[in-house]
Amino acid sequence: MHRVNSHTAPLLAVSGVQANLNQLAKAAGKLYFGSATDNGELSDSAYTAILSNSNEFGQITPGNTQKWQYTEPSEGSYSYTQGDVITSFAEANGQILRCHNLVWYEQLPSWVSSGTWTNATLTAVIQAHIASEVGHYKGQCYAWDVVNEALNDDGTYRADVFYNAMGPSYIPIAFAAAAAADPAAKLYYNDYNIEYAGSKATAAQSIVKLVQAAGARIDGVGFQGHFIVGSTPSASSLTSVLNSFVSLGVEVAYTEVDVRFTSLPPTSAGLQQQASDYGSVVSACLAVSKCVGVTVWDFDDQYSWIPSTFSGQGDACLYWANLTVKPAYYTISSILAAAATKTAISSTAKSTATAVTTTTSKASTTTSQAATTSTAAHWAQCGGVGWTGPTVCTSPYTCQKQNDYYSQCL
Ligand code: G3I
Repeated sequence: MHRVNSHTAPLLAVSGVQANLNQLAKAAGKLYFGSATDNGELSDSAYTAILSNSNEFGQITPGNTQKWQYTEPSEGSYSYTQGDVITSFAEANGQILRCHNLVWYEQLPSWVSSGTWTNATLTAVIQAHIASEVGHYKGQCYAWDVVNEALNDDGTYRADVFYNAMGPSYIPIAFAAAAAADPAAKLYYNDYNIEYAGSKATAAQSIVKLVQAAGARIDGVGFQGHFIVGSTPSASSLTSVLNSFVSLGVEVAYTEVDVRFTSLPPTSAGLQQQASDYGSVVSACLAVSKCVGVTVWDFDDQYSWIPSTFSGQGDACLYWANLTVKPAYYTISSILAAAATKTAISSTAKSTATAVTTTTSKASTTTSQAATTSTAAHWAQCGGVGWTGPTVCTSPYTCQKQNDYYSQCL
């Protein structure tokens, strides 16, 4: 009996939504649940009170200040002061860093974007930039977005300053330079509209192969995940695309997730749809063991990039601007809690089976009965494809279908 209690303890620790997103993601086997942030926002103490909680966000991405325009504003003159503010924040709070980014056609200093380059001169510039920046942050970054958004939506290469001078060769050159400067950092290609099958996803796979064929190291592909409410791919479609990249030998992550409304204000049905869409993204990552985590591109609407880029659109984040949570928060915390519970049941069953090899597995039977006969709590998962947990909700809640993959006690 004592054995049963000790094995069921992990279940209790991750049940319900008292636990936070990162805590649940880790219990479900992921490396992190994270958020982007930016320097200006860090003076908002109500905001940082949430962001600094590593149970909620276990990973931070600097939204701007590691980009080239900030870090090498004039040739050979490097400045990491602003980037360091974010990395120090993450380190003070015990949060993993995804570092972002090294080679991107936007937010370049004009000396790069308007320069006149040959293949040789721009190669040297890329190598010097990466050697300095990756060298500066050596040992601090779990991952680097080495090349960002090299593709047009039709899958052709973006004719930016790098491509125009060097063709696609700038990509493996950048990866090789990053690998030399920090052998421990995971090196990612990062892009949007590659989350679903199509010519752009296929072209991103070709980039992975291009880097591999050049003998350079590429460890991961980042799927930005800037989605629209009601147009987000299903969990199964997202999962199959993640798997098609994993089969190339790389890990994957959702790196910049938000789900925006194209017209405002949202209806309550719209908020449920947004919750379901966020749920699809998290479910897809959970379904793929080589998907290491999910990062939102900031967690509250006040600091979202959407309204300034897409006029009249927004409310894309997990939290409202006043820092209260949306239904999407509960949906993903429930999905993560359900996955964490499954992980705990499965590891409990495994360890129990090992412990009782010479006797009848009474403890194991008791544990699995407890897992399958209990009711699901408010907000918890209660159904969906592949779901083997409780399908009845604790009174007064009822099990409501969110999508084929997820029903929730509401
Ligand atoms: O820092 C200046 C400030 O001095 C000035 O007063 C102000 C006036 O507009 O602009 C400030 O710079 C802005 C910068 O964000 C910092 O806030 C730029 O105008 C603005 O264009 C820039 O937007 C960033 C955008 O990348 C640039 O393309 C967003 O914050 C940032 O969230 C966004 O992030 C990108 C990822 O890096 C790559 N994937 C897409 C994602 C969303 O666009």
